[in-house]
Amino acid sequence: MSEFEDAKAPWNYFVNDSGYSNVLRDRLRDHVEMDSAIALGTYLNERVRGDISMVDFGGGPGHYYPAIKRLYSSGTIDYLSVDIDHANIRFGTEYFADDPHARFAVGSILDPASFLLDRDGVVSANTLPHVPAIAPLLRAIAAAPSVNFFLFRMLIGNECVEIRKHLKADQFNKLFEDNYQHNNIYSLAYLAATLGTGWELEVMPDRVDRERLAQHNVPMQQQDAFYGNRVSRAVGDMTFKGDIYMPWKFVFGRRTGS
Ligand SMILES: C[S@@+](CC[C@H](N)C(=O)[O-])C[C@H]1O[C@@H](n2cnc3c(N)ncnc32)[C@H](O)[C@@H]1O
Repeated sequence: MSEFEDAKAPWNYFVNDSGYSNVLRDRLRDHVEMDSAIALGTYLNERVRGDISMVDFGGGPGHYYPAIKRLYSSGTIDYLSVDIDHANIRFGTEYFADDPHARFAVGSILDPASFLLDRDGVVSANTLPHVPAIAPLLRAIAAAPSVNFFLFRMLIGNECVEIRKHLKADQFNKLFEDNYQHNNIYSLAYLAATLGTGWELEVMPDRVDRERLAQHNVPMQQQDAFYGNRVSRAVGDMTFKGDIYMPWKFVFGRRTGS
């Protein structure tokens, strides 16, 4: 599927959610380091050595790049954010205009191959549950000789589950056909089977400041209480979004070649 088709697809609520694009832009401008950005930078630093050229799928305006750069100590970072939302890419391009090691491109996770050509690592945080399939990304990674690792924050469980969350409080036409958000869960066995041989996988726990999560909200909730169903909330040790339990984990993959 081309980027143009994905831009109009029923699961792609992102391009119509300018409030959310602005939230990501403000996190960048306000130097907010999200818990998941800190965890991603920390896990990366513990597992990878040397200079890295990475692509961040669903990287928005590059608000993870400063945290990754700060936390990665064994080499330099060359960063490329690929995002389906033009507004995110515009914000990032403007903000990092003076940084030759930060680049931005409109594109889709469903058509990833061209963004992997010169990259040795792939990261993606909080995005893979929301696209209809991750097989195109996993297969493209396996087929890209330059890529030797990936690090994802995604929903990992004991089974594969496709979830569609309806995004309207009181309009139900085309229920689960339009205006929905995926929150898909995958098993490690699925990742291993789709990548094929030659990969070593490691699952690491999510790292969340429970107090920070308890305070978490976005401005859109003030006008639209139903929007709160899209925003993470803590329930004891677990994270929920509306009615859905979100088993967030980090997965690190390293190419072993055998
Ligand atoms: C939940 S946000 C996560 C943003 C950032 N990684 C973070 O953790 O704050 C998902 C991002 O992925 C982008 N996105 C959604 N579907 C995509 C796709 N198919 N390909 C590329 N980016 C996509 C959205 O525009 C949005 O910026």
